[in-house]
Amino acid sequence: MEKVSSRIAFTLPDPSLDRPLIGYIRGDEFSIAFDAGASGKHVELFYSELGRMKFPLPSLTVISHHHWDHSYGIAAICGLSIANEKTYCHLQEDMNTPKENLFLSIADDYDYIRKEYLNPENIAIKLPDLTYKERMTIYMGDIKAELYHTESPHTDDSTLLYIPEEKVLFAGDAASGVIETAKDLETGGKYNREKTISLINTIKEINPLLIIDSHSGITSLEEELSYLESKLED
Ligand SMILES: [Fe+2]
Repeated sequence: MEKVSSRIAFTLPDPSLDRPLIGYIRGDEFSIAFDAGASGKHVELFYSELGRMKFPLPSLTVISHHHWDHSYGIAAICGLSIANEKTYCHLQEDMNTPKENLFLSIADDYDYIRKEYLNPENIAIKLPDLTYKERMTIYMGDIKAELYHTESPHTDDSTLLYIPEEKVLFAGDAASGVIETAKDLETGGKYNREKTISLINTIKEINPLLIIDSHSGITSLEEELSYLESKLED
């Protein structure tokens, strides 16, 4: 795991499986995970890394958005999970979709969900235990986590998690575009101008020092904003 401070860490993303990183915030009363990951195997790896670091397991897992690589691990977590209401609805749709349809990948070379699960029957989707609307603050003792349901070019259900005491923002995939093809995966996807401007404004308003993007890791506020602003020129 990469440590950001004594209270914040994250597992590294794994591009070979397109697994995103999983964030960890340690409060003195309880701890939070940011994202449940892609599967039970992904959760197991995360928890074993926490064990090695002698960090307590999270009591609560915040889901960044509904995409399978961030949410299908819910079925294997300990403690409770929370997501915004939109994420809950999207996951309900996934639950009502035949499992073989969930197994459709974007291209042969980018067959990540097949690599993760081998057989569609192995997919187990669980809905979040709790939902929130727009904004929520979670008090963890010496530290708090602020959740924002934010407009983003990636999906309509992006949750940002901000730790004001450390000025660290977990952004999930919010700063990615819409990924529909293998080429999108390499270029960062298609960016809707209005939604990208809205995300830029939200990030400026929060004003973090560091931002952690789920598939690429840690970056500065300046780098994140200049990346998003470059997408306005495309
Ligand atoms: Fe995503």
